[in-house]
Amino acid sequence: MSSFYLTTPIYYASGEPHIGHAYTTILADVLARYRRRAGDDVLFLTGTDEHGQKIQEAAAEQGLSPLELCDLMAGRFEAVWETLGISHDRFIRTTEAEHVAVVRAMLERLRDNGFIYESEYTGWYSVGQERYFTEKEIGPERVDPIAGGPVERIREKNYFFRMSAFQERLIRHIEENPEWIVPRSRRNEVLGFLGRPLEDLSISRPRSRIHWGIPLPWDGDHVTYVWVDALINYVTASGAIDPAAPPGERGFGDPPRPSRWPADVHLMGKDIITTHAVYWPTLLMGADLPLPRRILAHGWWVVGETKMSKSIGNVVDPLALRELFGTDAVRWYLMREMPTGQDASYTPERFLARYDELRNIFGNLAHRTLSMVKRYRAATVPEGPADGLARETADAVAAYRRGIDGYRLHEGFAAAMDLARAANGFVEVQEPWAQARRPDGAADLDRTLATLVRTLGVLTCLFEPVMPEKSRELARRLGLAGVPRFGELESLEVGGLEVAVDAPLFPPADFPAA
Ligand code: MSP
Repeated sequence: MSSFYLTTPIYYASGEPHIGHAYTTILADVLARYRRRAGDDVLFLTGTDEHGQKIQEAAAEQGLSPLELCDLMAGRFEAVWETLGISHDRFIRTTEAEHVAVVRAMLERLRDNGFIYESEYTGWYSVGQERYFTEKEIGPERVDPIAGGPVERIREKNYFFRMSAFQERLIRHIEENPEWIVPRSRRNEVLGFLGRPLEDLSISRPRSRIHWGIPLPWDGDHVTYVWVDALINYVTASGAIDPAAPPGERGFGDPPRPSRWPADVHLMGKDIITTHAVYWPTLLMGADLPLPRRILAHGWWVVGETKMSKSIGNVVDPLALRELFGTDAVRWYLMREMPTGQDASYTPERFLARYDELRNIFGNLAHRTLSMVKRYRAATVPEGPADGLARETADAVAAYRRGIDGYRLHEGFAAAMDLARAANGFVEVQEPWAQARRPDGAADLDRTLATLVRTLGVLTCLFEPVMPEKSRELARRLGLAGVPRFGELESLEVGGLEVAVDAPLFPPADFPAA
């Protein structure tokens, strides 16, 4: 059994979960479920990012202490993930004692290695993005270049990480590992960024300005820059570092001691690629830890031309969609509609079109198959060879796995839906209702029904990562003991199963009239 460790970004505990957060998290969940189904030992990490100025200010606005706000919001995120069927193994919060200790151990390591120095910082800071921008980046309007929010002029003493020392090594790593950052467009963007001299990274904030952060181990008047704090969560949860051990024995080193580190893939939106593909790997290099195996940046959900964001107020609430159409339909839409890596535009029309696809192709195939087994064979699947659609099934499973393994999830799920489409075509060609009428049609009908049930069994496996509820429900109706794993598909036996017909898997649904 191989092990697989994947992560989502940790979400700011200052805002409500919206469809953008839901997208990253569902993407991770789909990959986690797929890997488990393929037999891997999975660690799926998500959580909340709880320090920094943004949280401090949001709490003050609401008359709460920062930790009170974080407790509230972490609970909110966890509750939303539960309703969306997220199967994370660990929910990390950066205010946890274990994480705080690992951050401090990591900073000490960087300092012991000679990569930390003290200096004065003058520049522009965006609270919205929790990062500094250069004069050039903020442009003549002096706004943060990502969301257009305000920036403040700042001059203060900071500690710096000698990020510039790792520029060559990082460029070489990206060039030698063309698949390290996917998709390619994002890799090119990072290489473009690295084409200019890399500046050192300010890793601290004076406590006089921001008190809500992890104090530096060697200077309690400064707290850790929230992005450095946040990125380290990936190492904390891996168990690679033992902060309680004496400095030389904490687990730094490449290779690390046995643990979940390095991560197999970090997932994130394209807006936070620089922090993950530049800050993070150089910090790891500075602390003598190996780099994550892959960085996957997905696109944005946009409404019209604009990124969905809380500050703009155009966010779509995944829970509202869920109430109308069910969790699995929301998951299906998000995974099927956005080509992994590119932007996609949310529209109710496209949502309905994707829901109709579920209803009319997959739902319909399930319903007609189960009804016919009930009508013609008293609800017991016949023993007849289930060998129809053999080539279509093998091709679909292969295309599905190529798609998901290559992080083109939309292609994988399209291949699964094509198999359902092919099975509906098989019904039209075989005409089981005519086979049932023909005096010598019994063997043909047995084969038709067994083939359809077997194909549905395969589809429960292919659809489970994206539609866990419906797939489990269909497996139950088919009389299977559970959703089969990939290793069980070849030998999947359906003869003799007792099926149950029930209400449609995907009932009629619509948006309320405006
Ligand atoms: N706290 C940082 C991440 C630290 S990770 C060490 C952060 N948090 S966030 O709450 O802003 O959430 C970021 C994630 O949500 C990113 O992956 C981002 O791309 C995603 N999305 C936020 N809005 C989005 C869309 N409109 N569309 C798709 N995803 C977007 O950044």
